Amino acid sequence: DIKGFVFDLDGVIADTSVYHSQAWHQLADELGVAWSEELADNLKGVSRMDSLNLILKTGGKENDYTEAEKEAYATKKNTNYLNLLKGMDKTAILPGIEAFLADLAKHGYRLSLASASKNSPLVLEQLGLAHYFEARVDPATLKHGKPDPEIFARGAEVLGLKPEECAGVEDAKVGIQSINGAGETSIGIGDPAILTGADVNFKSTSELTLANLEAALA
Ligand code: G6P
Ligand code: MG
Repeated sequence: DIKGFVFDLDGVIADTSVYHSQAWHQLADELGVAWSEELADNLKGVSRMDSLNLILKTGGKENDYTEAEKEAYATKKNTNYLNLLKGMDKTAILPGIEAFLADLAKHGYRLSLASASKNSPLVLEQLGLAHYFEARVDPATLKHGKPDPEIFARGAEVLGLKPEECAGVEDAKVGIQSINGAGETSIGIGDPAILTGADVNFKSTSELTLANLEAALA
């Protein structure tokens, strides 16, 4: 039986993946790397430095910069992202998410956060959702990013639950791979053609309810 939910943040709880994309798009333009929807999708769930490396590789520029220069570009993207976050309020919470979190709490489910973002505490606070989560995996402590199972395995661990007692919620392909690798039930939010391998898929968070989930898992 499922006792806990391990949540991704960007693109699942909040509409912040749009801000991440916008900030990366701007940097890609500056680096002279062509932006595409495919690249935007491939960046979802990927850590800051891995994202920069993927952008550089896409443009055939993976050997053009020193580590120090790359650090500076990653910091620049983050400054840009933080500026975009400044205007963010509760309207950035994705449809139905607050009701779902409240329903999960009411039914005694345990919640943790498995976001690759170092900005996740800030985002949860700003949206007034931090109190729903009893634990968070600090991505700075991870050896491997998504699609490695580590982050979702730790998401169950921090709740004191077994993986099979947890469901993970993700909008990224690499995130679904991480959940499945950890041995948890995977819930995909978005295009099922991209999120192949998800145990359950909802096109939008507005469909993410306990009733729909129970029906889909039955
Ligand atoms: C999430 C987002 C990615 C982002 C990553 C790192 O996984 O989906 O787009 O690159 O977090 O975020 P950070 O805020 O630490 O740069
Ligand atoms: Mg995400």
